[in-house]
Amino acid sequence: MKILYATSEAVPFCKTGGLADVAGSLPPALAAEGAEVAVVLPLYRRVREKFGGELNFLCYDYVDLAWRHVYCGLFSIERDGVTWYFLDNEQYFDRPDLYGYMDDGERFGFFSRAIVKMLDHMKFWPDVINCNDWQTALVPIYLLDDGVRENRYRSIRTTMTIHNIEYQGRYGKETLGDLFGLDSGWAADGTIMMDGDVNLLKAAILCADAVNAVSPTYANELKMAYFAHRLESVMRRCEYKLSGVLNGIDMNRYNPETDPIITTNFTAGDMSGKDANKAALQKLMGLRVEPHVPIVGIISRLVSHKGLDLICEVLHDMMKLPLQLVVLGKGDQKYEEFFHWASQQYPGRMAVRLDYNEELSMAIYAGADLFLMPSKSEPCGLSQMIAMRYGTVPIVRETGGLRDTVQPYESWRDAGNGFTFSNYSSGDMLYVIREAVYLYKDYPDAFGRLRKRGMECDFSWARSAGEYLRIYANVTGQLWPPAEEAPAPAETAPVEAPVEEMPAETPAAEEVPVPEVPAEAPAEEEPAVAPAEEAPAAAAEESPVEAPAEAPAEEAAAKPAAKKPAKKAAAKPAAKKLRKTASAKKNSEKGTTANGK
Ligand code: GLC
Repeated sequence: MKILYATSEAVPFCKTGGLADVAGSLPPALAAEGAEVAVVLPLYRRVREKFGGELNFLCYDYVDLAWRHVYCGLFSIERDGVTWYFLDNEQYFDRPDLYGYMDDGERFGFFSRAIVKMLDHMKFWPDVINCNDWQTALVPIYLLDDGVRENRYRSIRTTMTIHNIEYQGRYGKETLGDLFGLDSGWAADGTIMMDGDVNLLKAAILCADAVNAVSPTYANELKMAYFAHRLESVMRRCEYKLSGVLNGIDMNRYNPETDPIITTNFTAGDMSGKDANKAALQKLMGLRVEPHVPIVGIISRLVSHKGLDLICEVLHDMMKLPLQLVVLGKGDQKYEEFFHWASQQYPGRMAVRLDYNEELSMAIYAGADLFLMPSKSEPCGLSQMIAMRYGTVPIVRETGGLRDTVQPYESWRDAGNGFTFSNYSSGDMLYVIREAVYLYKDYPDAFGRLRKRGMECDFSWARSAGEYLRIYANVTGQLWPPAEEAPAPAETAPVEAPVEEMPAETPAAEEVPVPEVPAEAPAEEEPAVAPAEEAPAAAAEESPVEAPAEAPAEEAAAKPAAKKPAKKAAAKPAAKKLRKTASAKKNSEKGTTANGK
């Protein structure tokens, strides 16, 4: 399975929010499961500054965006089993920030157009492109648009991951042709217009082969007006292809046992180090060093959907409880001013840093006892998982991924891994904060067990990566897990009569055979050691870069021969040849190597 993950940010290269964490760890997890994975990102100034020395320049080409004809450079770096591609255009991306410019529509219109264009120069032709949020929402649309003219684009399936439906990429209707280079048919058939504007996310939801939200609860919520920011009817219409896949966290990076950033390492079995982290946090933030007073931590963008109004409403009641409060984040001025003012009212008990700071955030995860996230909506949320990993018990509102990751504490059977409340009500929030504080103070053993349960939760990416691969398998019709892990073909291969035009080696009936699906296995009569390539003649014609992209021999040998329709072997080399010719032509013009290598 060849997957191209298209994203506007990814750790460690560039980050503004949770999307970067996901894009930084999901692709390696997919690769670890055996998929071939590449990621494509814009080459922002900060990437060039930090990673410039490690990037390999592959080639350049020109991208047509409406009447514009603009340069696009292609760079890459290999890391964690994944090829990370960077698309370069200094006019668009050599800027201090990732977003927030008046021409963001043009910048990401270019990015999406360039992704499709530069496929010719990448190491493989993807089976699936996984797009993320509005910045890459044009990719499925451009693929359909180009697919009308060029058959090869039709073999690529697209999935759209929604990290936050609030940001949709809305632009005036005049941008359709003049900026994005799309003809009026896209507006006339209702695909791209919404409330009189071009709406990129809406169009992608309609055009992608599958859509997923970043948690099962958020996937459901998106069908409701309260959460969907006017896209609820579109989501309901696309329910048939909608799923929710919970994000994971990088369990190695966030590991209290080995984390080099925190003051003292600790484990679920030996929590003594946690106290040292707590004392360090108190000193760092100018709080009184009181080992038996619970610290409530908040690390958040200071924006309305994070539920900060609830905290503003009852802050003084909260501060009547025996607790300390630490806030880290920046955002809307009204919240920044409120928290700044409030911290001055409670010196030694409340500390605020209006900033985003990785080291301080780790000090809070490691040193706090409770972690407050009263979000109005939360597509997934990663902080509650990181907090739990560091033995900091979350207090959350039951929405989106918070509901899917935090199970409420039940004293009567000593179960759960945090505290939750359901209504968006400051009284309800205060009630559970009080419960949590008194459990900490009065029942330290029970609190310790609660803490430990959170630390032992499996939030690794492996589980979610499997779910993504199942989505890719559904849309491509390819088998996943790969055939060698599937039951023996004799047991699964349908005994029923094969579909008329299919040869005897037809895939299982439940799979959708598509002409471009790469061969999963050698033909039946191939010996076990035979190379995986479909046809030796075709293999010989491949560029050296393409060849290793196919399944390794031993892997293929183990796969059941029944999974390969004979037709495919013939169809694929033809498509590849076409592509090869196209890229070879371009490259010869530019004097670069085929496929940019
Ligand atoms: C967005 C969402 C957040 C989610 C993250 C990664 O930032 O607001 O809830 O965890 O994307 O998917």
